[in-house]
Amino acid sequence: MVGEMTLSVSQNKVPGNWDRKGLPGWAYSNDELFALEQDLIFRAHWQLACHISDLTEPGAYVTFDMGYERALILRDKAGTVRAFHNLCRHRGSRVVDNERGICKSALTCPFHGWTYNLDGTLRSAAQPSTFPELDPVEWGLKPVELEIWNGFIFIRFQPGPQGSVAEMLQRFDSEISPYNIANMERVAGDFIFAEAEVNWKSMRDVDNEGYHVAKAHPSLQDLYGRAYIDEPYINGASRSLGKFNDSPSKLWSVKAYRALVSQFPHLPEPLNASWLYLGIFPNAVIGLYPDSIIFYQEVPVGTKHTLQRGAVYRHRDETRTMRAARYLSGRIDGLTADEDLQLTRWTDEAPLSSGYDRIILSDLEYGVSSFHDHLRDLMPVLSLERSPDVGTLAERNTALKGL
Ligand code: FES
Ligand SMILES: [Fe+2]
Repeated sequence: MVGEMTLSVSQNKVPGNWDRKGLPGWAYSNDELFALEQDLIFRAHWQLACHISDLTEPGAYVTFDMGYERALILRDKAGTVRAFHNLCRHRGSRVVDNERGICKSALTCPFHGWTYNLDGTLRSAAQPSTFPELDPVEWGLKPVELEIWNGFIFIRFQPGPQGSVAEMLQRFDSEISPYNIANMERVAGDFIFAEAEVNWKSMRDVDNEGYHVAKAHPSLQDLYGRAYIDEPYINGASRSLGKFNDSPSKLWSVKAYRALVSQFPHLPEPLNASWLYLGIFPNAVIGLYPDSIIFYQEVPVGTKHTLQRGAVYRHRDETRTMRAARYLSGRIDGLTADEDLQLTRWTDEAPLSSGYDRIILSDLEYGVSSFHDHLRDLMPVLSLERSPDVGTLAERNTALKGL
């Protein structure tokens, strides 16, 4: 496990005694590892599905697909938020298909028309006389574990090694409380931000370090690059703080953004002039800005196919100034995301080249390594230089875990 230390772009404080070589190249294109990750990582760790403001009224729902799993998160008639497998108990169809929507008083399966109450119990099968008697609870939608943390709704498909989300993020409680996250509201738009033919870990590797900001992200460098601090993943969570540069910005959008944000009274120093990021293992980041709050996450679809999913939330009492600032932060984020996507593609294809030998990580990329440590703890097979023989990876991993 990594030690408690701060990593700064301007002040290198990380001692050199850690694994600088990254994951082996085969880990980014191995189908058996992808299957193991589905079981050990994505099924068994908390997933950020949405925010309570995505479920504005009884019957409002959001669907969430992750690997082999699919979930349905909804607000029932009493206002309680519930999560279920989006899996009809008759023959397994999706009960709802859209990314989000509102179902008035019941969920009706599009295959044969079984209907479920908003609390998940079975209301009726189509042509019930053709079945034996069906107990409404026994044959109701299967619940999925759910936790609401500061308004963000997390789900977990299977029990896993993490404690609660609240425990994992507890060390940030006092820092994030002024943001009043639970009171933010969703900005309209799709959940899917981007799609790329890359392994999900390549996206995360690029996102887990700020060493590239100075060269690859002109807007971020202009906003906060000279004072950016990354803290590594510790017990499943990381923190990065981009405190706005002391010197004036050169780019018009950054200059205008800083001028607008300086008029907001609601956050204490230094958060009133910073972008704060919380990383949540294995695949989510929450970005806390003075004007808005965002999240994004990698959704692995295949060994070389990943979606980036996320959403933006604004202040309920958003002023025109805040709205203009949110437009500009979104613009800066959009440019950054495009730049990162290109870096992700290059990172992802590199291990397939005959010229690929190994990589070496800087002290400023300790966030990448601490994330890899979390993966290696769960999947010690990732310490092998060469991929295990075909058909043996899961077994080999279990054996290595027992050592
Ligand atoms: S699969 Fe849903 S009603 Fe048949
Ligand atoms: Fe980046």
